[in-house]
Amino acid sequence: MKVLTVFGTRPEAIKMAPIVKELEKRENIESIVAVTGQHREMLDQVLKIFNIVPDYDLNIFKPGQTLTEITVNAMLGLEKILDETTPDVLLIQGDTTTVFSSSIAAFYKKVKIGHVEAGLRSGNLYSPFPEEANRKLTGVLANFHFAPTNSNRENLLKEGYNDENIYITGNTVIDALKYSVKEDYHFEEELLNKIDYENKKVVLLTSHRRENIGKPMENIFQAVLDVVHENDDVEVIFPVHLNPKVREIANKYFENEEKVHMIEPLDYLPFSNLINKVYLVVTDSGGIQEEAPALGKPVLVVREETERMEGVLANTAKLVGTKYENIYNGFKELIENKKKYDEMAHAVNPYGDGTAAKKIIDILEEEMN
Ligand code: UD1
Ligand code: UDP
Repeated sequence: MKVLTVFGTRPEAIKMAPIVKELEKRENIESIVAVTGQHREMLDQVLKIFNIVPDYDLNIFKPGQTLTEITVNAMLGLEKILDETTPDVLLIQGDTTTVFSSSIAAFYKKVKIGHVEAGLRSGNLYSPFPEEANRKLTGVLANFHFAPTNSNRENLLKEGYNDENIYITGNTVIDALKYSVKEDYHFEEELLNKIDYENKKVVLLTSHRRENIGKPMENIFQAVLDVVHENDDVEVIFPVHLNPKVREIANKYFENEEKVHMIEPLDYLPFSNLINKVYLVVTDSGGIQEEAPALGKPVLVVREETERMEGVLANTAKLVGTKYENIYNGFKELIENKKKYDEMAHAVNPYGDGTAAKKIIDILEEEMN
């Protein structure tokens, strides 16, 4: 069986790496890896960590690229790769524009599609934007839906998908975490070694979602800043996404703040180990909402909706929205109310046991036989 795996951004690379490694182990599988290069630096660091050398690199990245440019350029490139490699099945992961472009390109060639991390839904087509649409559109074209959890499976059933084509596998994010997080991890970044994780309340902040750019992101940063100013023992580490629009807003709020450390995006190994060390996490990321609960860290989710309700229902994540008051109150409570913090600081891992990649490839081998 010839399997073509395509990915393009940082989170897809992290979550696809365990799958690529698993494919490489199988004797009866020819594994071909193509990256679109929707991201560049943020993708390359993951490839390096997992020692993955793609067979094809479309290198479509352009600073400030539009969604249409990504879609068109990825599709045109993938058409050629599909013709050249004639795979039996395409594997894609998640909800980025690379995922949607790859699945429509494969569909046009009648190549079977396996969708990893299928069935996540926020219920709002515009939030996260454009990811909610990307994953629904991909679902329509997919033959195998690899759902991380039963609630993801139920979302697909509600939309009329056949249960026979849905497989609950856990999320490969846990496979990757098992590989990366070590209790005795030592950072290469001096700043991260110097921070006093024992005596300070160290907060890890990330924000990059398109629908948050503008007023919602301003609210997030203002609320964080106000709580930092009111609490001497709070220190923030903020690895800033490379999107220039995010950088502009981040600089406006934090440029001269001693207790907010704006740093470059971290490589995956230091980043995942940093989650393991900090007091709590404030984020609008998807993947980090899965990683932080698995590592026992409370997460404040600064989004209007989340497709990852498992953490919220287990009371390790709190969905505070993007209004200033709600973010400020939610953040302040977690910093100042130890009882509330302790209630949320417990490890919850609804996303599997770290064997998702193996399950997915076992299923593929069986179903494609
Ligand atoms: C994309 C995904 C989003 C995912 C995120 C992970 C889509 C529509 N969105 O959003 O689901 O959560 O990746 O981070 O697919 N940039 C660089 N270098 C890089 C990466 C990005 O300079 O390595 C800058 C560029 O200016 C680029 C901008 O960031 O134009 C935005 O990148 P893009 O891939 O368009 O969208 P993301 O917001 O990263
Ligand atoms: N991540 C990283 N370095 C960073 C920020 C995040 O390696 O500076 C990792 C994080 O551990 C997670 C993934 O990137 O696995 C999440 O990516 P992102 O938040 O960009 O995208 P999303 O998950 O929201 O699609």
